[in-house]
This record gives sequence, C-alpha cells and structure tokens, in this order.
Amino acid sequence: MRFKPEIQNLPPYKPAKLITGPTADLVKLSSNENPLGPSPKALAALQTAISQAHRYPDSASVALRQALAAHAELALDNVICGNGSDELVLLICLAFLGAGDEAVMADGTFISYKLRTLELGARPVRVPLRDYAHDLAAMAAAITPRTRVVFICNPNNPTGTANGTAEVEAFLARVPDDVLVVLDEAYVEFATRPDYPDLLPAIRAGCPNLLLLRTFAKIYGLAGLRLGYAYGAPALITYLDQARPTFNVNLLAQVAGVAAITDGEHVARSRAHADASRVFFLAQLRALGLAPIPSETNFVAVAVGDDDAVSDGLRARGFTVTPLAGWGLPGLIRISFGTVAQNAGFIAALQAVLNG
Ligand SMILES: Cc1ncc(COP(=O)(O)O)c(C=O)c1O
Repeated sequence: MRFKPEIQNLPPYKPAKLITGPTADLVKLSSNENPLGPSPKALAALQTAISQAHRYPDSASVALRQALAAHAELALDNVICGNGSDELVLLICLAFLGAGDEAVMADGTFISYKLRTLELGARPVRVPLRDYAHDLAAMAAAITPRTRVVFICNPNNPTGTANGTAEVEAFLARVPDDVLVVLDEAYVEFATRPDYPDLLPAIRAGCPNLLLLRTFAKIYGLAGLRLGYAYGAPALITYLDQARPTFNVNLLAQVAGVAAITDGEHVARSRAHADASRVFFLAQLRALGLAPIPSETNFVAVAVGDDDAVSDGLRARGFTVTPLAGWGLPGLIRISFGTVAQNAGFIAALQAVLNG
C-alpha cells in the first residue's frame, strides 16, 4: 500500500478541543457557533422529520435549494448544497485543482483552503493580510497563468475584518475570466459596514467565475447538522455537482435548512445578540488595555502576548478560545461571542489570566 505524500504530509489536524465528558462544563468560545442555539422552527421541523430517518434524503436537495434560491432571488440551478461549506471547499478544489496549479488565498484566513489545495497536489499562494484584512490588490497581483482559484473570506475568519464594495469590485475586475473567485461569506449575516459588498446581483447577471459560499453553521445555529451552500452561475453549479457525492446532505439537514432559512426572527435575534456582544467585548477588552481588531462577525480577535499560554490559562478557568499562532497570527486569540453571562464570565477570567 502506498500513501499519497500530498495527504500524508499535511499538517496534523489540531482538533478544536472537543468538549465532552469531564470537561463538559467548559464554555466553548472557540468555534464561532450561535450561543442562542438553533432556530425554533428548525427544531420543530427536525422533530417531525426524525421518523423518516430510515429513508435516503433527496440526492438533489431540491426543496432546500428552492428555499435558498427564493431567499436570494435566484433560480434552483444557481444553488448547490454541501455537508457543511467545508465540503464545498473540498469539492471546489477537487473540481479545479491538480498538480502544478495554484490557488491564491490570504495568509491568516480559514485553514481549509490551504489544506484542501495541498491535498490536491496544488500550491497555495498565500498573500499576507494588510491591517488584518485581505490585501485584495496584492492578491490580484499574485494571480499567474497557473492560478485556477482565488479564495477570499469576507468577513475574514479569524481576524473578523471585512473588505468593502469598491475594493472587492476593483479586485473582481482584475481577475481573468478563467480563474474562479470563491467568496466565502460564512459570516455575511453579521457584517455591519454599510459598504459590505452585495454580490448577489453579479450572480443574477450570470457572472461565470464567481461563487458565493455560505453556511448554516453560524447565524442559523446548525453547525452540528453540517449544512452549507453556494450561489453561482448554472454552468459552474452543474460542473461542481458532478464532483458531489450523491447523498452528501442528510435528510435532517435538508429539512432543518428549509425551516431555518425562512426564520427571519431567529436570524434577527441572533444578529442583535452578536451586535450587543461586539460592543461589550470591544469596550471590555479595551478596558483591559488590549487592542481588539474591530469585528464584522460573531467573534473578535485580539493580541494577548503568548496566545497559547493565555488560551491554556483561560481553559483552566473554564473557557476555550482559539490561539491563532497556528493560523499565522502569533500572539492573537479568537474569542467567539457567548451568551450575556458567558461573555461577562469570560472577561473576568481573561482579566485574572492576564494579571497572572
Ligand atoms: C470562513 C469559514 N468558511 C467555512 C467554514 C465551514 O463551515 P461549515 O460548518 O459550514 O463547514 C467556517 C467554519 O468555521 C468558516 O469560518
């Protein structure tokens, strides 16, 4: 048996410190989940659907794709669904990358783009962030004839920054037609800057090489069900669909997704909670003498000195966060917003850790 070096040599997966068993009382502020839980409408739909668990799901996720299309004023053939948007990142890489190809991405962004690119034997071209945000001019300049895909995470995980419309449109205008641009909008529903780009009109207009990647794992509170989706031109969606495992989206995820996407109340409540949490965290972290990066998401990144030591100290006091040295951002930690009580408890714990 021969292992493929592209897979064998990947950096080992560092699990996001699972919370089970004796550590179950830890407050998990490390995965950007929704502390308010799933949409009540999704929970109700799941209760009904569970009795159908002996059935295979609809392999084409038609009802869900219809709901997602309606949500964005698009057509069914503009939508593909995945087992989390993470699976869609893999599908994109499978469908577009091979040995000798390049994928351009930021250095300091969601880690899957790099891992899946390496796995396919292609080369990740990593462009440093500027002021913790994507440097889109430098990313455009990094495109070569070998570039097949550009990944842009907007808003960016883990820094929480977002690029505005003018910058994104100038970037798109510089990208050759034969290069796919993936805009990962996992946190789109949290973005607050008034000039946050709305790229749905470009999809409606048939832009052939743009894919908007989204997820039910963040504002919709369904991370455990694994459900993501993407909007793109019909030819691109059909092509990606060829690479998709037949039953990639399970029956419960499909049913919950339809209910969640139409639950505007839950989304509004979750967004309001994130807005209030952001104000709280920025003020409290500044009061501790820290300089948090202004966030457009449901988390905040902040420099704390030794990110690993501070994360370990926080864990000992009951809170998990994400140290960012492994993401190319040494000294920073990423804190997901929790409930009001968890947020207050966290600040007290951080103060104790920083005071030694
Ligand atoms: C930017 C970004 N993209 C994609 C994902 C993956 O989301 P999913 O749970 O839908 O696979 C995440 C999850 O943290 C993320 O932060």
